[in-house]
Amino acid sequence: MAAAPGTVGVVGGGRMGAGIAQSFATAGSAVVVVESGEEAAAAALERVATGLRRAAERGRLEEPAERVLARVTTVTAVEDLPADADLVVEAVPEDPALKARLLAAVEKAVGESTVLATNTSSLSVTELGTALARPERFLGMHFFNPVPASALVELVVAGRTAGDTVRTALEWVRALGKKDVVVRDSPGFASSRLGVALGLEAIRMVEEGVAEPEAIDAAMSLGYKHPMGPLRLTDLVGLDVRLAIAEYLHGTLGERFAPPELLREKVARGELGRKTGRGFYTWED
Ligand SMILES: NC(=O)c1ccc[n+]([C@@H]2O[C@H](COP(=O)([O-])OP(=O)(O)OC[C@H]3O[C@@H](n4cnc5c(N)ncnc54)[C@H](O)[C@@H]3O)[C@@H](O)[C@H]2O)c1
Repeated sequence: MAAAPGTVGVVGGGRMGAGIAQSFATAGSAVVVVESGEEAAAAALERVATGLRRAAERGRLEEPAERVLARVTTVTAVEDLPADADLVVEAVPEDPALKARLLAAVEKAVGESTVLATNTSSLSVTELGTALARPERFLGMHFFNPVPASALVELVVAGRTAGDTVRTALEWVRALGKKDVVVRDSPGFASSRLGVALGLEAIRMVEEGVAEPEAIDAAMSLGYKHPMGPLRLTDLVGLDVRLAIAEYLHGTLGERFAPPELLREKVARGELGRKTGRGFYTWED
């Protein structure tokens, strides 16, 4: 069994950051979560506690949830991260300026051997690394939602990431009990690029009246054994999130990622998927 990092910092304890903190704490790491203030820090810790309680109820923890939670602490400034952290994962909102600023501040707060990672789902990892003095210790660690239950971490090798950094990150992914895919830094990596391509084509098919959403989804879930169809998945991810990624991929990879008009219209109407009760489906819960 690969060894988990001794100490991990997580910057941003939202949906993804809390899941990342929970996963490393469960694997035995001491985890320090950085949030933007006291209230946000308490909310982040509560998210981790809730996640651990759920994992315990499902029989997925080998030790009591409280003991795992005791390994998680919070601070409200990156300057308070432990200098001897083995790894710091950035999981703040998808804003390149915010991410670059925080990563540069983290680098100043930690030691030379600390690995820095970003959980960005689509931004250029190479560009985020230009603000760093040690870009060879920086890579993308793209976790999936919900982190504790998902099997995959996509490791994104930026232009200046060292081979040794990738090998160390691979060990840590295995210590979490997850599988890795290693991809070269390029727009949308492997997962978002393929997932969005399928989702956009499914939306164009609705637009052209090829079939109803249920039928298009069934074609993929029953015919191709996808765990769920591309339109249902778009509803779960959020149509606004999908539109933002499509616009980015359109700008970087070209016309084949042009967002369909129907997606723009739905977002403009506030039909964002499950979170607003309506997307390609109606959500009652
Ligand atoms: N949600 C997903 O399905 C998903 C999947 C993969 C990757 N991602 C990526 O993960 C990142 C985080 O996404 P999320 O869904 O967890 O967002 P989120 O909004 O749930 O969490 C972001 C957190 O960052 C905190 N934050 C903001 N500014 C901060 C600062 N200056 N210092 C410390 N904390 C700060 C916020 O308080 C919030 O708790 C994004 O880059 C996103 O693209 C998201």
